[in-house]
Amino acid sequence: MNIILLGPPGAGKGTQARRLESDRGMIQLSTGDMLREARSSGTEMGLRVAAIMDAGELVTDDIVIGLIEEKLSGDNRGGFIFDGFPRTLAQADALSDLLARRGIDLDAVIEMRVDDEALVERITARSTCANCGEVYNDITRPIPSDGKCVVCGATEFKRRADDNAESLRMRLMEYYKKTSPLIGYYHAKGTLRSIDGLGDVDTVAAAIAQVLSDA
Ligand code: AP5
Ligand code: ZN
Repeated sequence: MNIILLGPPGAGKGTQARRLESDRGMIQLSTGDMLREARSSGTEMGLRVAAIMDAGELVTDDIVIGLIEEKLSGDNRGGFIFDGFPRTLAQADALSDLLARRGIDLDAVIEMRVDDEALVERITARSTCANCGEVYNDITRPIPSDGKCVVCGATEFKRRADDNAESLRMRLMEYYKKTSPLIGYYHAKGTLRSIDGLGDVDTVAAAIAQVLSDA
């Protein structure tokens, strides 16, 4: 089964993708994570896109399409979860071509709906494990009192450079301007499923499980 998780910054795409990986053996393909990895390993491309990401703007289509293309040649037996990709109509068309060439079907595009107020609250309270990337939240999913990551036991946590009010405002603008047209695009293709992303993590996971069982 191959799905896209579509939604604004902070909708919970990464949280649910990691859960689908551990529950169902699916493979998370997050262009945000790939770009952050490129930055921290100091590749030329990573350094080039760093300022764009920190400002909350979208990186150019050719870069993210190239990143996804590399990953599609790997093992996909568990199925792919596209997290944060596609984000523009050009990326959606490119993904459609890439999948068709490999004979991979797209089973569902899950739109996670969360209002702006909740997005801001979630993002400004987010931290991630520096070792394994597990996502925490000061309010809804605090780091355990022993200071150790529940997944890997590491004790170092970080906050993203783009999780500040100004970058977030730009990320939301980019979402509504360039990414939200994909809702109509996938609706027209008959693959769009919209869920309420406002519930707690278990409730949202159950809504996604329902979509997957209907797909
Ligand atoms: P990216 O890393 O994709 O960021 P994003 O889309 O802004 O999404 P986030 O990672 O911020 O949010 P999320 O939906 O994964 O939420 P999470 O699960 O963490 O992209 C970053 C940048 O890279 C972009 O701005 C752009 O520059 C570039 N980029 C990436 N892909 C690109 C592309 N395709 N094209 C061009 N540029 C690209 O949850 C958020 C918080 O809420 C956490 O604290 C979590 O614990 C909490 N939470 C999650 N679910 C719930 C819940 N149900 N209830 C309560 N709290 C919850
Ligand atoms: Zn960890």
